[in-house]
Amino acid sequence: MASKLTIGVLASGSGTNLQAIIDATETGRIDADVRVVISDVPEARALTRAREHGIPAIAIERKQSVSKSEFENRIVDAMKEHGVKLVCLAGYMRIVGKTMLSSFPNRIINIHPTLLPSFPGLEGQRQAFDYGAKVAGCTVHFVDELTDHGPIIKQAAVEVREDDTAETLQKRILAEEHRIYPEAIQLYAKGRLTVEGRRVRIAGR
Ligand code: GRF
Repeated sequence: MASKLTIGVLASGSGTNLQAIIDATETGRIDADVRVVISDVPEARALTRAREHGIPAIAIERKQSVSKSEFENRIVDAMKEHGVKLVCLAGYMRIVGKTMLSSFPNRIINIHPTLLPSFPGLEGQRQAFDYGAKVAGCTVHFVDELTDHGPIIKQAAVEVREDDTAETLQKRILAEEHRIYPEAIQLYAKGRLTVEGRRVRIAGR
């Protein structure tokens, strides 16, 4: 059997996307293992979720380091100690800096709750709703030096209904996030992704 892709997840909050990834590894829907979960927020639910599944869970706070690069070096060291090949951001509420990017070139991916390039930044679902968008959605993309910007791996569209509130819309988008994030990881695990400039080619489609 081919060896599994080793993943490290970085999360700051509730970790429902982390949960979707863990569930997909446990049910064999993706050929990957979550080796470590790291959070910059010690009380993040994401860390508890990891522990509930026997996955090493580590809190690394920004304030424990004098500089961003020192902070990121600690994250990189922990990821490497656990043999991580792909870093998955799942509700990680910080901008990824040069240290992490250069340590994992084209090996960091993120999920954003809008159809990028629309509505980058915080509370994208609410931004889309307030803007009056008729179609919302979510995006899995490689991380580059700009926020919510790197080459797109997968997107899912979610129709905005007449009776939606920002909250009901967010809930339906989140359900799609939980579907496409594991799917994108599986494409990576199977070696099917090639980045050509802004375009991500998917082999065998
Ligand atoms: C998700 O909406 C994700 O798209 C965004 O942050 C949220 C994290 O949610 N980047 P959770 O922690 O995975 O529940």
